[in-house]
Amino acid sequence: SIRCQSTSTDEQKTRNLLDNASNLLTNLLSGGNLGSMPTAEGAVSDLFGKPLFFSLYDWFLEHGSVYKLAFGPKAFVVVSDPIVARHILRENAFSYDKGVLADILEPIMGKGLIPADLDTWKQRRRVIAPGFHALYLEAMANVFTDCSERSILKLEKLLKGELLRGGKEIELDLEAEFSSLALDIIGLGVFNYDFGSVTKESPVIKAVYGTLFEAEHRSTFYIPYWKFPLARWLVPRQRKFHNDLKIINDCLDGLIRNAKETRQETDVEKLQQRDYSNLKDASLLRFLVDMRGADVDDRQLRDDLMTMLIAGHETTAAVLTWAVFLLAQSPSKMKKAQAEIDQVLGQGKPTFELLKRLEYIRFIVVEALRLYPQPPLLIRRSLKSDVLPGGYKGDKDGYTIPAGTDIFISVYNLHRSPYFWENPNEFEPERFSVQRTNEDIEGWAGFDPSRSPGALYPNEVISDFALLPFGGGPRKCVGDQFALMESTLALAMLLQKFDVQLKGSPESVELVTGATIHTKNGMWCKLKKRSSYDPASV
Ligand code: HEM
Repeated sequence: SIRCQSTSTDEQKTRNLLDNASNLLTNLLSGGNLGSMPTAEGAVSDLFGKPLFFSLYDWFLEHGSVYKLAFGPKAFVVVSDPIVARHILRENAFSYDKGVLADILEPIMGKGLIPADLDTWKQRRRVIAPGFHALYLEAMANVFTDCSERSILKLEKLLKGELLRGGKEIELDLEAEFSSLALDIIGLGVFNYDFGSVTKESPVIKAVYGTLFEAEHRSTFYIPYWKFPLARWLVPRQRKFHNDLKIINDCLDGLIRNAKETRQETDVEKLQQRDYSNLKDASLLRFLVDMRGADVDDRQLRDDLMTMLIAGHETTAAVLTWAVFLLAQSPSKMKKAQAEIDQVLGQGKPTFELLKRLEYIRFIVVEALRLYPQPPLLIRRSLKSDVLPGGYKGDKDGYTIPAGTDIFISVYNLHRSPYFWENPNEFEPERFSVQRTNEDIEGWAGFDPSRSPGALYPNEVISDFALLPFGGGPRKCVGDQFALMESTLALAMLLQKFDVQLKGSPESVELVTGATIHTKNGMWCKLKKRSSYDPASV
């Protein structure tokens, strides 16, 4: 379903000529110069057997930081440059919408923030973003540690059983464990619902996984066949998808009904200052309903919750998976991480305050996001003609793009750009403690932590858009601090108790991508008790 322009046959040559002519015409009509943009000339085989973002990276090195890729009958512009990304995401953000992504996600997330049209987005972002205030995040630290503790306890029990049988270690798929942990956390944090997926299965959990699976399938399937009339009744996987959606929607509707019935009206400031230590339900749903409960329609609230459930689940599970994958290949960095954990936490439980002292673990989390960004591509479509600034490599003069141009901002390419990172493909969490001033790259301000005072984690402001783990500009992730804290605390608690090794070689862990980069068959690891810690005493 994916085609890159190939020069192998006459037919394809003719098609290329026609494509180029049509692009040229479009560009001339819109005043654009897309026709002069370098075009990826890979073979179809480049796109099979390996994830798309690997090919996009090779073409970035070959063609420069802005190039064109034919994708089926359509052309996409691939951007791998911080200066151009900053323009699209921040400086001229409202000239773009989510394009193809919105088409794919709308049936699942409705008018939730990710696919929302601009008017709905403006209204809902204003309501949702204040929900992630400092006291809420502090309260969430307890949810993160309680849920992580449940996961650790499960692993300890498994290990204890193995020790009793004379074994020394357990083997298990840590990606699956992280997925359960992240689902439990997002359920409690966003709508105070305990999926309990670390220890059990339920129809709702199965429905969530079914829906995620479908979202992923749709994001890699070129023809939106699910939009054809009758598809939802005739195609079995579409029938299942609609059943899954109904199960989740019924569950969310029940939670919304309950939150509305128990609503206590108060104003935003009071809500943001309330005593979360005594609050039974600190969830975002509680905040959203208490703040504007009566006038938010249930459908919109449900779309918001569904969006956050999907946006915050697999992404966080993936960060934890890749952080462990990278650490397991670097024993010295693993030791350094565990030494920091021992020094800051000892055998105790992490807290919001202690997190501030876990600097190396925080850098590991961001470095995992740099090397394996979730999602690896940000998708946009221009709503009007726009002039892109010149990027750093290969496209000095910039391009004028017509309205309706589909764009991939390759965060993967940006994060591994040899022009902006030293040793871009190496796992070096230490890189974030070094400030990099910039004299040689026009238009890029360098890497400078003082640009974002008080930030615990490196971000797009500090890196002037060379690091975009949560996007940037007005549509930046609302859950970034939630996700970073969650990942840091969960990783610290795992490494506090266990030594982790990969079961097979790193190469045997195959990658696949949909919305996130994840493994093909799980990340199988061997877990041993840490020498200073004895799970037999549990
Ligand atoms: C948007 C990444 C966790 C909710 C985004 C975007 C990125 C991202 C890159 C921007 C998408 C774009 O510009 O097209 C991540 C990563 C996460 C994570 C890597 C975990 C490590 C979460 C969590 C939540 C969340 C935990 C909610 C609790 C959202 C929402 C948006 C969003 C609602 C849309 C924002 C808007 O358009 O206004 N996320 N996210 N994310 N994320 Fe996250």
